[in-house]
Amino acid sequence: MAPRKLAAGNWKMNGTLASLAEIDRLLADHPAPGCDVLICPPATLVHAMAARAQGRIATGGQDCHARTSGAHTGDIAAAQLKDAGASHVILGHSERRTDHAETDAQVAAKAVAAHQAGLVAVICVGETEAQRDAGQTLDVISAQLAGSVPDGATAANTVIAYEPVWAIGTGRTPTNDQIAEVHALMRDRLAARFADGADFALLYGGSVKPGNAAEIFAIPHVNGALVGGASLKAEDFGPIIAALS
Ligand code: G3H
Repeated sequence: MAPRKLAAGNWKMNGTLASLAEIDRLLADHPAPGCDVLICPPATLVHAMAARAQGRIATGGQDCHARTSGAHTGDIAAAQLKDAGASHVILGHSERRTDHAETDAQVAAKAVAAHQAGLVAVICVGETEAQRDAGQTLDVISAQLAGSVPDGATAANTVIAYEPVWAIGTGRTPTNDQIAEVHALMRDRLAARFADGADFALLYGGSVKPGNAAEIFAIPHVNGALVGGASLKAEDFGPIIAALS
């Protein structure tokens, strides 16, 4: 099986019930996209979005707890996301790694919980600008992959997103060669470790816009994108979906 193409939107801490009108616009403009489409809204909107999208767009969470239940105020279990209609969950986003000091081991434990609940884990990796400037990018990505992706990962239950921290929300993107280099490394590492490592969908994320999407999707081993700001409006996310289709 070849990797599936996935256009994923991460709404981060944006959106209210009124924002779900964007789903209607997206479905009206792109009734039969040639790729999988996923939107990960704030947890407050997961249930309503899943109901609104009727399976035509997949719905995901932005994080989950590693435990199945218990005294963890403010956290959400993977099974609760599943129960609300989610099929995916983003894990290890750099904003979680920074704001909540999440480690690779914690991300891996969350991925195990996601898999056990029947969710696809979208596991994020990416170097800081200082790490890139120091020539450490490939080592950082290798270490994050090794530590954040659990042994039970398969192409069916896991997607990997390469998001350079310095490219997120900045309007800056790596060169095509830099993206290609990291994606080739990720493909090699996954193929060396997992029987179906050649089939994992690999996403690029970081300032993906309608104007640069097609060029990024033409890079080898880029199977889609994890889009932040440009996923909030159908007029921006729609052309990105079209570029991947
Ligand atoms: O999860 C999405 C990424 O952080 C990218 O965000 O497209 O706003 O740069 P961005």
